[in-house]
Amino acid sequence: MSLPELKDVRAFYRERAPYWDMFMERELINKVRNKEAERMLLSFRDLPQNSIYVDIGIGTAEHQRRIEKLLGNRLGKRYIGVDIADTMLQKALNKYPDDTMILANARSILPLRSALADGLIVQHVLSLIPDEVLQWSIIEMRRVMKKGGILSGCVYVPSDPFSKSDFPRNYPQYREKKLADSERSLNQDRSKLEYKTLFDKAGFGVEDMHHITWDAVQITAIAI
Ligand SMILES: C[S@@+](CC[C@H](N)C(=O)[O-])C[C@H]1O[C@@H](n2cnc3c(N)ncnc32)[C@H](O)[C@@H]1O
Repeated sequence: MSLPELKDVRAFYRERAPYWDMFMERELINKVRNKEAERMLLSFRDLPQNSIYVDIGIGTAEHQRRIEKLLGNRLGKRYIGVDIADTMLQKALNKYPDDTMILANARSILPLRSALADGLIVQHVLSLIPDEVLQWSIIEMRRVMKKGGILSGCVYVPSDPFSKSDFPRNYPQYREKKLADSERSLNQDRSKLEYKTLFDKAGFGVEDMHHITWDAVQITAIAI
C-alpha cells in the first residue's frame, strides 16, 4: 500500500492541530482512547519513578494528559516529545512547557542520543510510516532506548474477527472514523505477525499485543 509523502502527512496534522483535542473527546474515540491509556499504564507499570520517556509523534500530547488524569500524576521525571507537525508540537508545549519538544522525522535518524529512554511511546504513528522505512524506523527507536526499556504503541492491523475486544463493531461512528483514517492513509494492512517480526529484528521482545478494538492493537515490547 502506498502512503502519502511526508509533506502531506505533515500538512494533514498541521491543519488539524487546532481541533485535535476536541476530536479526541468525541464519544466513541474518547472511550477508545481511555482504553489505550489504561493499557499503556499497564505496559509501563514496572518502570521506576525517575524514568525518562520519549514520545514519538506526540501530537498535541493529548494522550499524555489522559494518562496523567488516570494516574493522578505524570509517569516519569523527564519527557521528550518528537513530531513533524510544528502546530501539533506547539500545542503539546503549551500543555507541558518544561518538556523538551523536538521537530523531527521518525522516518529518518532521530536527533536523540542512544540508550536515553526508559519508556518509549509511539501511539498511532507506526501506521503512518511507509513499509520501505518502517524497519529502519523501529531500529532507530530501539537505538534511543535503554536495554530493559519498554515501548508502548498502538497500530492498526486487519480486522480480527476473533479478537475479544468489546468495542461495538457496527457502531456507525466507528465506520465514520474508519473513513477518516483512510483519508489519512493509515496503513491498516500489516498483520500482527508482520509487526512482531519487525520488532524482533530491531532487538525488541514483544510482550503483548492487546486488542483495543478489533483492528487496533496496543503493542508492548521490551528492549533486549
Ligand atoms: C494520529 S496522530 C497521534 C498523536 C499522538 N501520538 C496521540 O496518540 O495523540 C499522529 C502524529 O504523528 C505525527 N507524525 C506522523 N508521521 C511522523 C513522522 N514521520 N515523524 C514524526 N512524527 C510524525 C503527526 O504529525 C501526528 O502528530
